[in-house]
Amino acid sequence: MAKFIVEKSGPLRGEVTISGAKNSVLPILAATLLCHENCEIEAVPDLNDVHILCSLLASLGAEVEKDIENNYVNIKADKIITNHAPEELVRMMRASILVMGPLLARTGKAAVNLPGGCAIGERPVELHFKGFKALGANVEISETGLVTATTDGLKGANIYLDFPSVGATENIIMAASLAEGTTIIENAAQEPEIVDLANFINKMGGHIRGAGTDTIKIDGVPSLRGTRHSVIPDRIEAGTFMMAAAITRGSVLIRNVLPNHIKPIIAKLRECGVEIFINDDEGILVRGDVAPLISTDIKTLPYPGFPTDIQSPFMAFLTTVQGRSVVMETVFENRYMHVLELNSMGARIKTEGKCAIIDGNKKLHGSEVIATDLRAGAALVLAGLVAEGETVVSDIYHIERGYEKFVDKLVKLGAKIKRVE
Ligand code: EPZ
Repeated sequence: MAKFIVEKSGPLRGEVTISGAKNSVLPILAATLLCHENCEIEAVPDLNDVHILCSLLASLGAEVEKDIENNYVNIKADKIITNHAPEELVRMMRASILVMGPLLARTGKAAVNLPGGCAIGERPVELHFKGFKALGANVEISETGLVTATTDGLKGANIYLDFPSVGATENIIMAASLAEGTTIIENAAQEPEIVDLANFINKMGGHIRGAGTDTIKIDGVPSLRGTRHSVIPDRIEAGTFMMAAAITRGSVLIRNVLPNHIKPIIAKLRECGVEIFINDDEGILVRGDVAPLISTDIKTLPYPGFPTDIQSPFMAFLTTVQGRSVVMETVFENRYMHVLELNSMGARIKTEGKCAIIDGNKKLHGSEVIATDLRAGAALVLAGLVAEGETVVSDIYHIERGYEKFVDKLVKLGAKIKRVE
């Protein structure tokens, strides 16, 4: 199995260009199933998850043309040959469930295996099905976990989400886009990726208003057409490289980032004494080398709150600053798998339910650690950049599914990291 070997690297310096957003391109690729025509997608990151979803779309009958070197994918879902997503592909990526909404709306049927849980939590998907049922679909789950949704024609409805689930909001928006009548989603997720999906579907001829707020209104249309769309930059990748600059006390210019999408990360890093300069043309300059850095407290929340996906990289950083920090993870029930690994590197973190208490100013040392999810993996790499000696990170497939050219980008900033089989 491939591993990352990370050594103490000194302050990172230079500039990094952020790729297209993983959590935006996945629902947008799924949404290409809503029409018969060419959808040209640009700024597509070269990630394992993107390749898996493209294979899944092709297995459903879509024509997929990938020029991933140029971050370009062209999809034409003119003929859909099956409503059943192949189990082996669905098992590889839980975001496969995002093909259900468009498949159901386009063909009246969608069969997808229930995605399993993962390291960070049970990851239920009942809110997706609540939405499909409200739109008039029949949803059945077999003993083997195959979910089959069928309908003679979706009808607009009012849907309240018990939790502002990103995936459920996306699936319901896609299904409602071709429903008859108007759908209103209350307590909807407000992430920028939802706005990007709504913009894409509106360019296809859809009629979605309120994306980015907690109330989204979708007027169904009879059909949608092909379009061209460029995916927004990945705010979580941007946040990860901001943490890399902070933890190594470096000075890094982050290009291709939308400052509005990372306000909580900017605010929290500034509380720790990190200097952040926003220049709309150039990007964001992050300097961890100006003042002694101090602790702060973090509480993860659905957008626009502090993003759960930056919790573990931020925790790695907090082990190195002066003072005690408290982190509260409110989005996922089990997102502290990286704590054990960080403690094996000399950190001093105690968890108690949703809370983690981090004693700072720790001198980390290298260790053999395991990535449990892609963000935890990134956090361990960041810790390895400042730990004495060598850190070996295994199960790096998690990391490579979510960060395009991760090693290359870090090496260009002066990081001592290499990938070994
Ligand atoms: C998306 O996952 C992202 N993935 C996740 O990023 C991200 O952490 C998460 O949103 C939260 O921001 C993609 O976009 C592909 P949710 P998703 O549905 O849609 C509960 C990464 O690192 N819930 O908003 O699965 C659920 O248990 C990944 O890139 C229900 O209870 O997230 C969880 O506690 C990790 N019932 C919370 O909501 C449901 O029906 C957030 O889940 C659905 C969700």
